[in-house]
Order: sequence, then C-alpha cells, then structure tokens
Amino acid sequence: MMKKRLLTIGVCVAALGLASAPALANDGYDLWLAPAGSPSATEIRVVGQSETLDRAAAELRRDLAAAPLPVVLARADDPALAALRLPTAALGDEGYLLRAATLDGRKTLIVTGKTDRAVLYGAFALIRAQKTGADLAAIDLQSAPKIGLRVLNHWDNLDGSVERGYAGQSLWDWWTLPDFKDPRYTDYARANAALGINGIVLNNVNAKPESLTAPYIAKAKALAEVFRPWGIKVYLSARFSAPIEVGHLKSADPLDPEVQAWWKAKSDEIYREIPDFGGFLVKANSEGQPGPRDYHRSHAEGANMLAAAVAPHNGIVMWRAFVYAETDPDDRAKQAYTEFKPLDGKFADNVLVQVKNGAIDFQPREPFHPLFGAMPKTPMMLEFQITKEYLGFATHLAYLGPLFEEVLEADTRAKGKGSTVAKVIDGSLYGHKLSGIAGVANVGRDRDWSGSTFNQANWYAFGRLAWDPTLSADRIAREWAQQTFGNDPRVVDTAVKMMMASREAVVDYTGPLGLAHVMGTGHHYGPGPWISDLARPEWNPVYYHKADRDGIGFDRTKTGSNAVAQYEPAVAKLLADPRTTPESELLWFHHLPWDWKMKSGRTLWQEMVAHYDRGVATVAQMQSEWQGVKGLVDAERWQKTASYLQIQHNEAKWWRDASLAYWMSVNGLPLPAGVAAPEHDLAWYKAQDFPLAPGHPH
Ligand code: GCU
Repeated sequence: MMKKRLLTIGVCVAALGLASAPALANDGYDLWLAPAGSPSATEIRVVGQSETLDRAAAELRRDLAAAPLPVVLARADDPALAALRLPTAALGDEGYLLRAATLDGRKTLIVTGKTDRAVLYGAFALIRAQKTGADLAAIDLQSAPKIGLRVLNHWDNLDGSVERGYAGQSLWDWWTLPDFKDPRYTDYARANAALGINGIVLNNVNAKPESLTAPYIAKAKALAEVFRPWGIKVYLSARFSAPIEVGHLKSADPLDPEVQAWWKAKSDEIYREIPDFGGFLVKANSEGQPGPRDYHRSHAEGANMLAAAVAPHNGIVMWRAFVYAETDPDDRAKQAYTEFKPLDGKFADNVLVQVKNGAIDFQPREPFHPLFGAMPKTPMMLEFQITKEYLGFATHLAYLGPLFEEVLEADTRAKGKGSTVAKVIDGSLYGHKLSGIAGVANVGRDRDWSGSTFNQANWYAFGRLAWDPTLSADRIAREWAQQTFGNDPRVVDTAVKMMMASREAVVDYTGPLGLAHVMGTGHHYGPGPWISDLARPEWNPVYYHKADRDGIGFDRTKTGSNAVAQYEPAVAKLLADPRTTPESELLWFHHLPWDWKMKSGRTLWQEMVAHYDRGVATVAQMQSEWQGVKGLVDAERWQKTASYLQIQHNEAKWWRDASLAYWMSVNGLPLPAGVAAPEHDLAWYKAQDFPLAPGHPH
C-alpha cells in the first residue's frame, strides 16, 4: 500500500518534471539541503583552486539534480571568463552571478562572483533555483547581499545549556573541543552558507569570563577553522568585567589605561589564533551584567575601548542597546532610547549598536523600536529572536517571516516617507559602510536542529532576509517548503498557508491588540497576566497591561509615559490618537475603556474575546490542513508536526481560557453570547507551576 502510494506520487512528480518524491522517513537533519539522490549527473568544472571553490563544487555534486547544461564555477577575474564580459561590477565581494552562456563554444551554466565566497553563494543559489523550479537553461540571475554582517547569536553557555534554547543542548561540545571537531559543525556551516550567513557569535550574551581564556580561545579557533571555508567568521560575547575576573585587575573602567591595555593584549592574543576573528558582542549594564555605567562611563566609552582593541585587526564591536535600569522609574519601553540617542556620533567607526526589533523584548508583536532612524551617525544593527521564547517555544508552529517582514518594512519616517527599518539597517538611509543584522539562533543538538521541522523555516527566513530584507515572507515560505518537502504543490500550498496564518494566531491567543509581556515568570512559558508580585515593577505583566475595572492598556501618549514622542513626529502623531493607531498595536500605546468602540463596531472587550477565539480556531484549522497532507509528507516529519500541532492547540486554548478568566475577574464583564466559558476557574490557572520548563537559567 505504502509502496504503491509512493509510486503514484513519484509518477505524478515526474510528470510535473519536478525534482524528487518524498522519502519514506526523514528526520529533518538535511534542512534545506536535501541531496539530489545519487551524485549529480551534471558535468561540474571548477576553474581555480581553493578550499571554498572545492566545497562549492561538492555542494553541486551532492545537491544539484541533473541540470540541462554543464556547470562552470570560476571567480569573475579568472581569464577563463574574460571573453564573456560579465556584468559583475555591482556584485561587491559577496554577490554572485548565475548565467547560461556560451563558453568556449559550449552552452554552459556559469556560476561566478568576485571572491571564492561569492562563488560558493552562487552554487547554493543555483541549487535553490533548481529546487524551486527555475529554468536553468535560461537562467540569468545576480544578487548581492544588502546587509554586510549577517550574524547568528548563539545564547550557548559553556556548560552546554542554551539560554532560551528549545532544541537540545548546545551544538558546541566545549568539552571535547578543540581536539574533536564534530562533523555536525561542518553541516551547520553549510546550512548557514546556503543562506549567506557570514558570522556566528559562539557564546551567550550573558557571557562567562572564561570564554576569553586561552583554552576557550583555542576552542573558538577550532570552530573558526571549520567555518572559514564557508565564509563564516566567529565572534565572541565579551563580559565587560573580564579584566577583573580573568585579568585580575582591580577595575574594568574603560578609561583606565591598564584596562585598555588588557583588552588590547587580549584582542591581540585572539587574533594571533584566529586572524579573521570578527569581533565582540556586548551586553552591558543590562539585566545584572557589568558595564561602563558601573564606573559612571557611558555606553560609548565602554564600546570605544573594545573597538580600539580590535580596530588594528579590522574587528568590530556589536554593542547591545537592550538596557533598562532597576533604578529608573520611567517606562521600560523608553529607556534604551533615552540612554542611547544622546550618544549618537560618539561611537567609534567600528561599533554597531545592536537594537532588538521592539522596545521591550521579542514579544509576538511589538511596534518597531524607536531607536531605528533616531541615530543617524551610528550604524545600527537589528536583532531578531529566531528562537521562540515568547511564541510557544519549539512546539508551536509560528512562522516568523511575517514578524520579520513587518519590522523591516516599518516606516520610521526619519528621512521622510520610505525610511524603512530595512534601510536604516542596510546602511543606505544614512550612508553607512557598516551594516548588520543578528538573529538569536534556534539551533541545538536535536536531530532536526531547531526542535521541529517548521522551526527550521525561521532560521531560513532570517538568513534570506538578512541577505535581502525586501524579500516577502510569503515567497520565502514557499521556497523553504519546496526545498524542505519537495515540489508537490498540495504540500507546498498547505505548508505556506499554515505558515502565513501562524504568527497572527499566536498573537491572537497570547496577547491580541497590542498586549505584551503577559507570560509566566522566568521560563516565560504559558499565560500569567495576573502576576504582580515580582521585585522589579517592569518584570510584572500587570505593569504592561494595566487592566482594571475601567479599562486596559499602557498609556504611552502625553497623558501617560509619552513614549510616542520618541518616534518621528509623523509617526508619533498617528500613535498619539487611538483612532489612528493600528488596532494591532492599540493597547501598547493606549489605556482604553473596555467598551471602547472598535472599527468592527464591537467593543474592545468583545473584540479581545474574538481575537482569542480566532487564535484557537486558526490552530484547529492548521491541524485540519495538516491532516490533508498525510501520506504526502514523509511519516516521521508528518507525525511529529501533527503531535506538535495538538500540543499547540491545547496550549492555545489554555492561553485563551486563562487570559479570559483573568480579564473577567478584573472587568466583571460577561462573555459575549455564544462564547465558550474558560474550562477552569482563575485559581486553577494561577496554580499551574512549571519549575522545569526548558530554556531559562535555573
Ligand atoms: C530576554 C531573555 C533573556 C536574555 C535577554 C537578552 O530578557 O529572557 O534570557 O538574556 O532577553 O536579550 O539579553
């Protein structure tokens, strides 16, 4: 029966001229790099010699199904290509060109770029083009990355755990490094290179000083050696107080010459081992981490000290703006801007300020961070969270493409209309040479890398958008699904449909209409809108929603914290008025009565309830859509996804029920007619306890 079914699919796929039929079992290890089957029948020729070019050719031999033309890989400056006069001027160091052309009298597929790295990207692009159905015999494609630094941030600890990681232990086995280079490191690099990711920060932003000691530098060096041929540099998170902890100095004051000398010597030591070391990522004076403020120095003074240490080696510093102080009573959403905006122009040339997409913390939806566009003299790096700390961990299907797209497309209006976040971070708005984007990685040692098949799409989407932030989430979903499941349109269409609905579903069942930070404490798993007893006010969900008998929401207008004034006037004006604020962000900016009239004609309360219900219903819909492709996707990935969707459905309902039970306890309102009551009373939801939930430091 099984055989017959697969045969039918095979025939149907062949009839469509498509690449491959679904395999019998698939544990997801291959990601978007599914091998073509037997070695490619295509003739593949490499002109020139380097490890990177060899790898490019090996990728084609492994993953390219029979192509209509022989393939030639060569650097653009190679005399072999001279006669073709290819238009490579705009490619930069990393852009590639794929073209079907006549070379030495033979129709050939040319894969080229100015550097070996670019040729490697071209090889991966050719495979992607084939798997997504392009006509290779007529291909003419060039593409250069819009953003320079395309970096994954690993929140991996030296003990093998991963902060906010839901896909198993750290990929890095620090214990057996540097002697044992797990082959998985190479597969990881390949998967990243296929997307154009060119930097990896190895360790958690909550950094241990030991990562800067000689034994750990040797381990980082081993990883750098694995990554180098794939065009990937390593970076380290640096703990600001390391001169004290590792260097035994009395201070870490950035203006102290001894401290400066220590960092300089430390950087020289690292560069001796890792000549292409990328630089440092720093979380300073944030959530208990040490930093320059401990010495009454500014963030710029702290960053510049490190920048001076790595500058002779062409290194950079990525300095995070994720700061909020326990001593500052002001709205947490305002604090990073207040602290950093006055420092514009004060950072050294090789510093980027790394800003989370929103002003709080990777919530399922946040308005774009007001710092974007507000520091014209400073290259600004955007930080997304690929791991789903607030969107259901590994189990919930939540495709982040639409979230990423929404942020990148947001118009800061900093230089008039069209001043999108994408243009701020790609450097084009203010003409910066340095540009960067970071994603907090969602990988671990799980066989499928990311904890679920669909989570792989978030890593993929991040990488593709880092290369080109103007790509659409929908297109990325489709090309990911084609490379992940094969080209059966029934599967691809279903996967894309589920993916495109999924993030909004999470917003709906966890915190609709601009609600945020309503989750459980510490682990951030599940609902906790009632939580009000934590030491710092801004740790408590009640701080964010401010619900009482009369209304709900955080007034960030003039009558409240006036956070809206941190945006450009054209944006601030719209946000100052609840009638011109997008309803999806309404309660982020406004405190409104429960009977506030929404655009739909419903009251705010009725609308909230409708969103919670819609969120749960969307998950049910995703479940039934997935049932529809049973047998068209390999059994292993199908079954795991189906089970996870069931978990998601249960938890969506839990979020909805717990939230509604709490809101009703506050507003005293009944549910609209026909709406199901929460399954349990509020006390039951409050009593749920998850001391062993994964991903947070215990
Ligand atoms: C969140 C997350 C922490 C993390 C922090 C950061 O608050 O919960 O685990 O350390 O972000 O980005 O620094």
